[in-house]
Amino acid sequence: MADNMVLITGATSGIGAALVDEYLAKSDKVIACGRSQQKMAALDTRVYQQCLFDITDSDAVAQVASEVATLDILILNAGDCRYIDDVIKFDHQAFSAIIATNLTALGTLLAAFLPKVKRGGQVVFVSSSATILPFPRSEAYGASKAGADYLANSLRLDLLEHDIGVTLVHPGFVSTPLTDKNTFDMPFMITSQEAAKRIVKGVNQRKAYLHFPKRLTWLLKFFSILPAGLWQKLIIRNNP
Ligand SMILES: NC(=O)c1ccc[n+]([C@@H]2O[C@H](COP(=O)([O-])OP(=O)(O)OC[C@H]3O[C@@H](n4cnc5c(N)ncnc54)[C@H](OP(=O)(O)O)[C@@H]3O)[C@@H](O)[C@H]2O)c1
Repeated sequence: MADNMVLITGATSGIGAALVDEYLAKSDKVIACGRSQQKMAALDTRVYQQCLFDITDSDAVAQVASEVATLDILILNAGDCRYIDDVIKFDHQAFSAIIATNLTALGTLLAAFLPKVKRGGQVVFVSSSATILPFPRSEAYGASKAGADYLANSLRLDLLEHDIGVTLVHPGFVSTPLTDKNTFDMPFMITSQEAAKRIVKGVNQRKAYLHFPKRLTWLLKFFSILPAGLWQKLIIRNNP
């Protein structure tokens, strides 16, 4: 499949920027969305349309949606991560900010862009393998992505009659500016180019669910069926 109209949020960095390159290499038309003018300017000049807006600003989202063409593929990839460092002094502002960006904004984006998605099209949610098993300090990020999972899985059922598919993506650790900030071990890390290739291939096949790299995600899935006492010890030992 080529010549699709593909809108990507979070296209100015990391996985999103790699997705831009992958879709352009397939001769698709890419609508790149992000916040940073500087990072947007660094993208391939073949990008069909550049849209600078904050996904938490519902007026800006609606304005951009009124300016874009009909879509074959809508990729909801933009996201952020903040850790809860002191759980007793629970940082509710960080929690709210992450829920706003990673979950509430998905509702705003769907309201604006879903009517633009053609029958036969695909909506893609870039969630996280962090939802397979809970990790320490990830109360905000994990909760936001678990919400995104349910949203994607429920939406898939309701979009069946509209012939619009939903792909839920669970990446493991991907080397991007988001993970560059982490100081803990990130096993089986892959590049953003590898992640983008897997996403493009899976979306092209209209897969409902993608998870990678399998050596990490199957391990997490295996741990998740063990008694909680066992995997809690394993996770805490590896994330002091
Ligand atoms: N990297 C990983 O290991 C990993 C693993 C699992 C899941 N993920 C998920 O993959 C997605 C992409 O992550 P990444 O690692 O590629 O991160 P990244 O390099 O930090 O890129 C994040 C992108 O999201 C955009 N963004 C963030 N907040 C936004 C907002 N309020 N409004 C508009 N755009 C916003 C950024 O735009 P600007 O830069 O223009 O501000 C940027 O383009 C995220 O949803 C993340 O949770 C990543």
